[in-house]
Amino acid sequence: MGKDGFNLVVVANRLPVDMSVADDGTVSWQRSPGGLVTALEPVMQSADGAWVGWAGSPGLEADPFDADDMRLVPVTLSAGEVERYYEGFSNDTLWPLYHDVIAPPAFHRQWWDTYRKVNQRFAEAAAEQAADGAMVWVQDYQLQLVPGMLRRLRPDLKIGFFDHIPFPPLEIFQQLPWRRQVVEGLLGADLIGFQRAGDAANFSRAVRRLTDLTTRGQMIQVPADGDLPARAVRAAPFPISIDSKRFDELARTPEVQARAKEIRKDLGDPKIVMLGVDRLDYTKGIRHRIKAYGELLQDGSLDPAECTLVQVASPSRENVGAYQELREHVEVLVGRINGEYGEIGHSAIHYLHHSYPPEEMAALYLAADVMLVTSLRDGMNLVAKEYVAARSDDAGVLVLSEFTGAADELSGAVLVNPHDIDGMKDAILRAATMDPKEQRKRMRRLRRKVLTDDVAKWSSRFLTTLAIPQAGDQTGSDDARGDATAAAHRRDLASHDRG
Ligand code: F6P
Repeated sequence: MGKDGFNLVVVANRLPVDMSVADDGTVSWQRSPGGLVTALEPVMQSADGAWVGWAGSPGLEADPFDADDMRLVPVTLSAGEVERYYEGFSNDTLWPLYHDVIAPPAFHRQWWDTYRKVNQRFAEAAAEQAADGAMVWVQDYQLQLVPGMLRRLRPDLKIGFFDHIPFPPLEIFQQLPWRRQVVEGLLGADLIGFQRAGDAANFSRAVRRLTDLTTRGQMIQVPADGDLPARAVRAAPFPISIDSKRFDELARTPEVQARAKEIRKDLGDPKIVMLGVDRLDYTKGIRHRIKAYGELLQDGSLDPAECTLVQVASPSRENVGAYQELREHVEVLVGRINGEYGEIGHSAIHYLHHSYPPEEMAALYLAADVMLVTSLRDGMNLVAKEYVAARSDDAGVLVLSEFTGAADELSGAVLVNPHDIDGMKDAILRAATMDPKEQRKRMRRLRRKVLTDDVAKWSSRFLTTLAIPQAGDQTGSDDARGDATAAAHRRDLASHDRG
């Protein structure tokens, strides 16, 4: 830590640990799973930074502490705030709204009030930790107001924001009663990163329609506001990745390889093992995938004696109604298919409502001939990248939904539209019967991409761009007069390729 604070402060809804406090006041913590944590941990460890986030349980109060070479700064949320800010506004309003309204978003003014209040608390905690002129990197949809709040508290800071989930098209985004406040909150940042060029274009269009500001290429000009000087904000794609090397190395260890063999044996040594790995979330297309698989068994295209589907569905947001309903639907469907096609000692589907450590995940990836990623909408999907990183044997086939950010990057996957059940059945069959030569060709292409563009590259691209003054973008013509989304998309891609 510098004399007056940290030079890099990450602000995220969750701390990268789960904490608990014993009756005698002793704080203990353990690492918590999740895409964001996996993505940012290496950056934070090498930068000696601070991480501001919620400790994961309601009402938990704790002083800042050091763990894994990082200063962790817990933000306290009361039980009511968890309900209204996290389960409510973040995961029952923004989450469905930003994922193509797959589930209906609920709009409640009380949830919004709490979202604002909690965002202010995160902004204040970050302002307290940051050194003069420090970089603060705010993460994700739970904290979209933090950039604007932080800028007012600390105009000296360089503020970045990264949106891990999709940014919706204007026609959907404008349902949000507080759409203008959200856009203005984000515009407090100097750099706003998105997963895909299309997300950045959606945001720029929302800026043009919902504010008086104009955009030029990736740049948005924000005029002076009281004491705050005029600024340029950049909105651009920065597709996130994983610690690919770690997964690659893990999957090469004798222990993981032995475990992969053991898994196949425990599954009854089927000819084909298919795998799905998701948080139990309605955006992941789990029901569509299981329906397609069930129909393949039903029409005899797949022999239940020769294949099995392992579905890991890790528990998530269990107090939110839409997640409870999904769990019921998935479990009824799995039960029906297993009842129909299972035999003693052999299940058509192995459904696991658990989370597993990376070692077990790597073994599962190695054990799977076909990986099914069938999200209806997904910011990136890091599971797809983990599967690829684990396959140093160049075998296995990735079936990947067109509606993931990963599909923009991973050529070599078998792309599917999960709404098209017949199309998905064809793709699954194609993957299950693909010859090893073609598998190898595709997997090599996938691995080149995933091993080169890892999370370290992602974060350094973002932080390097944040470090340079956002003076203005000379590329591209002015699209402020119309919604030249396609042109913006092309320019974004071009500048991304250069970056
Ligand atoms: O994909 C968005 C995200 O917030 C990830 O960053 C995170 O790993 C995942 O969803 C789980 O979310 P939650 O914090 O609600 O368990």
